[in-house]
Amino acid sequence: MATFETVYRRSLADPAGFWEEAARDIEWIKPAEQVLDASGAPFYRWFAGGVLNTCHNAVDRHADGGRGDQIALVYDSPVSSTIQRFTYRELRAEVARFAGALAARGVGKGDRVVISMPMVPQAVIAMLACARLGAIHSVVFGGFAAAELASRVDHAKPKAIVFGSCGIEGGRVVEYAPLVNRALQLSAHQPEFCIVAQRLQAKAELLAGRDVDWDSAIAEAEPTGCVPVAATDPLYILYTSGTTAQPKGVVRDNGGHAVALRWSMTNIYDTGPGEVYWAASDIGWVVGHSYIVYAPLLAGATTVLYEGKPVGTPDPGAFWRVVAEHGVKTLFTAPTAIRAIKKEDPHGTYCARHDLSTLRYLFLAGERLDPDTYIWASDLLNVPVIDHWWQTETGWAIAANCMGIQPLPIKPGSPTKPVPGWDVRILGEDGAQLPVDRDGAVTVKLPLPPGALPTLWQADDRYIETYLSAHQGYYLTGDGGHIDADGYLFIMGRTDDVINVSGHRLSTGAIEEVIASHPDVAECAVVGVQDELKGQVPIGFVVLKAGADRDPSELHAELVQLVRDQVGPVAAFKRVEVVARLPKTRSGKILRGTMRRIADGQEYTVPPTIDDPKILDEITQTLAGTSQRS
Ligand code: COA
Ligand code: AMP
Repeated sequence: MATFETVYRRSLADPAGFWEEAARDIEWIKPAEQVLDASGAPFYRWFAGGVLNTCHNAVDRHADGGRGDQIALVYDSPVSSTIQRFTYRELRAEVARFAGALAARGVGKGDRVVISMPMVPQAVIAMLACARLGAIHSVVFGGFAAAELASRVDHAKPKAIVFGSCGIEGGRVVEYAPLVNRALQLSAHQPEFCIVAQRLQAKAELLAGRDVDWDSAIAEAEPTGCVPVAATDPLYILYTSGTTAQPKGVVRDNGGHAVALRWSMTNIYDTGPGEVYWAASDIGWVVGHSYIVYAPLLAGATTVLYEGKPVGTPDPGAFWRVVAEHGVKTLFTAPTAIRAIKKEDPHGTYCARHDLSTLRYLFLAGERLDPDTYIWASDLLNVPVIDHWWQTETGWAIAANCMGIQPLPIKPGSPTKPVPGWDVRILGEDGAQLPVDRDGAVTVKLPLPPGALPTLWQADDRYIETYLSAHQGYYLTGDGGHIDADGYLFIMGRTDDVINVSGHRLSTGAIEEVIASHPDVAECAVVGVQDELKGQVPIGFVVLKAGADRDPSELHAELVQLVRDQVGPVAAFKRVEVVARLPKTRSGKILRGTMRRIADGQEYTVPPTIDDPKILDEITQTLAGTSQRS
């Protein structure tokens, strides 16, 4: 067995050779002419000249290659009391038919399709059907408000929207049709048609001339085969929060994505054909794209699609019931889900009721894994608990303990070491590499490995400006951290205005824009403060316009509702503080970092550039007043 160090070193010394070898696990219609095309640097292209189809590799290949009767997808939905299984052959039939339904209505290679769906099998089928046609899907998370959906529709300009009639949030039915209708009132772009997957819990009223019922669409459709696409053609766009209100459309290509994800299944997750892999996330997030849909299927494994919560559906034993019932080997979720379980079942009473003998690994990502949660989960499950660090942009882990190469000793608080392919460097403000243990900007030396974003959708300039301009030749992750003397990476948090609420990534800028639109608000700042359950939650500091004499609880309710309506419930925006002034530098920059430290009760140094240091005391007093009241 090769050591981790050997594999890692080889991946950086000879990236083209390394990934060419990995690409042999993918079926190509035409192999790449050039594994790494650097001619357009800093835009790099993996597997240039190669032709393949991602859906073929994820579905047809297994359906025809001896796994036709193996379960590909298990849908487990405690909220609708459903368990449904699809073999690879059945999944192929569904996907081919739905692709036929899209194709019959004119969807083809390069067209965009927005998917706004709860966690139902049709969501996975719709994604794979797009891949089959070479159409580009853009899945929008159901917890966003109509305005967020509208901005994505306007940017992606989809030919079609596929939506479900409703989602089920614990015990609450969330109707999607009003959300889509409202979004399409707000957006300038209009799709040619929508396909609606009806659910019994709340049927959508179809809009004549626009909406087609899923079942009738597939009843009339002819199954369609896989369309050859270039390795460098986009597979999907996934919008993610940046520092401004306008989300960024992360592009994923077909070839690099398939190769990297297939490689990750063996080498990071140690999970292969016929084994059961469960990512307890949502298809609206990158974890759902990569590890509910594509990677397990590319590997010929069985994937679990779970529609429920870690607690309350019906109890904190829900995850353990799913593991036992479906024989899950590898579970992947966010630390917040484990914290939610720990809070309700601190002694693991519910866990003890289930046979977890198949479980080999618990992988966690999406936010920092706090050592308490790590220790609790390790003691409870008695399997390796693996923290790994990545982002929507990268599509797969930048740092992890690679279970399929050589498990390394775990250091709580660290996602272990950079994964093969990722040349991680810690840089100071002047761009110089920092010595061990010194915190700085976590960057990745270009080129990024296959699977990472090649650019932003129709925004090459923004791609360069956001990620590549801070330090020439390096990708800026937006996270701060350090590497210790053993080469272990420690991620200390975002250095920009992105926050992480229950593993969901949000822009404080987007929330600020909404709050600032309230007629009584003169200015505001939103920062993410520590939360025991959700990791971080947003808190809004608001300065009122002169003469705005408002009842504080009324104003509070209005602002909370505004953010819920404009950004979505997922922002979990519940805390507002009215302050007389915001702390700023002399040049007018709001000191969000200092405000965050005050709100977290941490020590802070008064920034030398501050305009008026007394404001910091005022904020401390305001927050102390709130905590006394609560
Ligand atoms: N559609 C509609 N609404 C949604 C939604 C969706 N898909 N997802 C979340 N929401 C709503 C929730 O119902 C909640 O609404 P409420 O304010 O009316 O209660 C709100 O958005 C906040 O959701 P969430 O942050 O998920 O809080 P929660 O209290 O419902 O659950 C956890 C807390 C920890 C159980 C939950 O966040 C969880 O399971 N997290 C796992 C993390 C995860 O999957 N991360 C993805 C990256 S790996
Ligand atoms: P997202 O794009 O939603 O996956 O969010 C990515 C961000 O989440 C990263 O930039 C980090 O700030 C944070 N994050 C993800 N995984 C981890 C982890 N294992 N440890 C610390 N932070 C993490």
